[in-house]
Amino acid sequence: MHKDPHPAVAPSTAPAAGTPASRLDAYWMPFTASREFKSKPRLLAKAEGMHYWTPEGRQVLDAVAGLWCVNAGHARTKIVRAIADQAAEMDFAPPFNMAHPKAFELAEKLVELAPAGLDKVFFTNSGSEAVDTALKMAIAYHRARGEGQRTRLIGRERGYHGVNFGGISVGGIAGNRKSFGTMVGGVDHLRHTHDLKKNAFSRGLPEHGAELADDLERIVTLHDASTIAAVIVEPVAGSTGVLLPPKGYLERLRTICDKHGILLIFDEVITGFGRLGAPFAASHFKVTPDLMTVAKGITNGAVPMGAVFAKRAIHDVFMTGPEHMVEFPHGYTYSAHPLACAAALGTLETYADEGLLTRGAKMAPVFEHALHSLRESPNVIDIRNIGLVGGIELESIPGSPGKRAFDIFRACFERGVLIRTTGDIIALSPPLIVEESHIDQAISTIADVLKSA
Ligand SMILES: Cc1ncc(COP(=O)(O)O)c(C=O)c1O
Repeated sequence: MHKDPHPAVAPSTAPAAGTPASRLDAYWMPFTASREFKSKPRLLAKAEGMHYWTPEGRQVLDAVAGLWCVNAGHARTKIVRAIADQAAEMDFAPPFNMAHPKAFELAEKLVELAPAGLDKVFFTNSGSEAVDTALKMAIAYHRARGEGQRTRLIGRERGYHGVNFGGISVGGIAGNRKSFGTMVGGVDHLRHTHDLKKNAFSRGLPEHGAELADDLERIVTLHDASTIAAVIVEPVAGSTGVLLPPKGYLERLRTICDKHGILLIFDEVITGFGRLGAPFAASHFKVTPDLMTVAKGITNGAVPMGAVFAKRAIHDVFMTGPEHMVEFPHGYTYSAHPLACAAALGTLETYADEGLLTRGAKMAPVFEHALHSLRESPNVIDIRNIGLVGGIELESIPGSPGKRAFDIFRACFERGVLIRTTGDIIALSPPLIVEESHIDQAISTIADVLKSA
């Protein structure tokens, strides 16, 4: 059922040739080492199931679900059809004071899937927009109920919450912040939970570090709870290099937020839609946030879309004032875009048909076993995993942080496996249709490359 229909076949529609160097100039690429890329481009021209193909027809195993988003594998029929049909039927409908039926249908289906209590869905076009929407919701919620002084937002060191100003302000990846001047005011950060000395080579959640949640009490003491609107964390931090919450950490954070009337936001842009072996990290950890951001897997990466789930009580606070007035002055031209809604409906159907939102739990032991077989490989200093997410941390080359992992990324691509690296950490997040043979191929390729790195 999850097998590629044509796993080893080169694409019939592959472009005849690669892109000539002269054509590479105009595109200013996102989060890319551009000069390196343009000196030796890595192009992808077709995708199906677990694989990409380069323009020359070389097959590449996708060990990262594109960019943590293609959870059902590539070019899935129901999603492709849904998008095509929708484009033919209605391309666009204005989302302000107007709507189209699929937006409501999708919101209803998403709410059914979400942890109990997250009853309302607001649509955006990306994870970054979902994060900034959630932060604005939190501040506006407190104001609407008469606590307008609660404007402070608390993030966590090493957190990644996208690239908009709210997201980089609460984000904790130094390299993503330092170029952009003054951030949103009043933000503070919890300590991160990564502790190599105590937790290296943990399988699943690390034993040590639940008490790091108490850092929120320190921040509350410093600023006073009455100034704090919300805390935002990734339940499992992905982009910073797969950092897992220590056992009990998220529960403790929830308790402290409740004690002080602070909203808890889970950023589930990566963990949402089956990555951990449950529909959401909130369902997996049985900790329900007040607001939850998602994107990526919501449409299987096929059309840009993000969303914020909110508790009914938060939504309802806004529902006052004259009925002809906008209650929450926020939204995007493309909120609930018809193509995105159609893609998301096709995606949810595909997930349901194939049990993909829980398949990660079944495959997790196989993945864990394979991943930890790299423990004795050269320069590996930690391996961590949960569901179908894995992180392999490498000793940095002195004076050249990130170089070792980047070279491994390039070498793996040349050998037909797409991985992702951040700093000197390799991150793996295969599509949830992954089979044992794909895992073996990815891990043995990495093992070979590590030997010569
Ligand atoms: C946790 C988290 N939040 C937000 C984002 C930003 O999403 P986007 O790139 O769709 O804006 C990402 C992207 O990787 C993410 O991992």
